[in-house]
Amino acid sequence: MHLFEPSEKIPKHLAIIMDGNGRWAQENKLSRSKGHKKGVETASKMAELCIKHNIPSLTLFAFGQENWQRPSKEIRYLFRLFLLSLKKQVHWLNNHQIRLTILGERQSLPASLREAIIEAEQLTAHNTKLRLNIACNYSGQWDINQAVNSWVGNNQTGNWQDYLSLASQENPDLFIRTSGVYRLSNFILWEMAYTELYFTPVMWPAFTEEDFVLALKFFNQTERRFGKTSTQVKQQEANMSC
Ligand code: IPE
Ligand code: IPE
Ligand code: MG
Repeated sequence: MHLFEPSEKIPKHLAIIMDGNGRWAQENKLSRSKGHKKGVETASKMAELCIKHNIPSLTLFAFGQENWQRPSKEIRYLFRLFLLSLKKQVHWLNNHQIRLTILGERQSLPASLREAIIEAEQLTAHNTKLRLNIACNYSGQWDINQAVNSWVGNNQTGNWQDYLSLASQENPDLFIRTSGVYRLSNFILWEMAYTELYFTPVMWPAFTEEDFVLALKFFNQTERRFGKTSTQVKQQEANMSC
C-alpha cells in the first residue's frame, strides 16, 4: 500500500485506546465477547502495521482499572481471552522481534495470567523491532500514585517520574482513540502532556490499515511547537536541514 510515503514524519510512540468492541458487536448482531475477540485480531494487526510503518513503540489500552465495574462475566471473559491470546501469540511476537511489556497493577490479575505475562516478558526481553506495551489493569492516576509511593519508599532516590511505568520510554507522540469517543478515560496522563490527539468514529474491530494511515497523515501535518511560535519552529527546522 503506497498511501503513506516513508519519508514523512512518523510517530516514535503511538498510544491507542482500542474502543468500540461492544458497539461493533451489537451493530453486527454478535455478542460482546465476539467483539473483544475481533478486537484482539485488530491489536495483532496493529503491531504488524507499526513494524511496517517503522513506528518503534506501541502502547495499547486493553483493560482500565475503571473496567472492574463491568459485569463479572465480561471481566472473566476478558482475562481468559487475554491469557489465551498471550499463550497463542507469544512465539509469534518473539519471531517478529517484538518486545512485550505489560503496564498496570498486577496483584489483582489471575495468577495464571500473571505467570504468562512474566514468561512472555522474559522471552521477548531482548527484541528490538517493536516495543509493545499492553496496559492491563492500568490507570494513569494509579501510575502517578505508585510512582510517587515507590520513590518515597526508595528514600526519594532520583526523581519521582523515574518510577512511572513508561519512565524508560519516549513519551507518546500520537494518540488514537476509536469509536467516536473523545476522552482519555484515565489512560496515560503524565506522559501525554504534549501528545497529538486523534479521534476516529471507526469501531476498533473494524479499524483497518487505511484508517491507520489517515491517523499517520494527521500526525504528519501537525506542527509540534511545544510552546514556541510557528516562526521559531520553522527557523529551527531550516537550521537543522543546513
Ligand atoms: C473496548 O471496547 C475494550 C475494553 C474496554 C476492554 P468496549 O468494550 O469498551 O466497547 P464499547 O465501548 O462498549 O463499544
Ligand atoms: C476504555 O474503556 C479503556 C479501554 C479501551 C481499555 P471504556 O471504553 O470502558 O471507557 P469509558 O468508561 O467509556 O470512558
Ligand atoms: Mg468502551
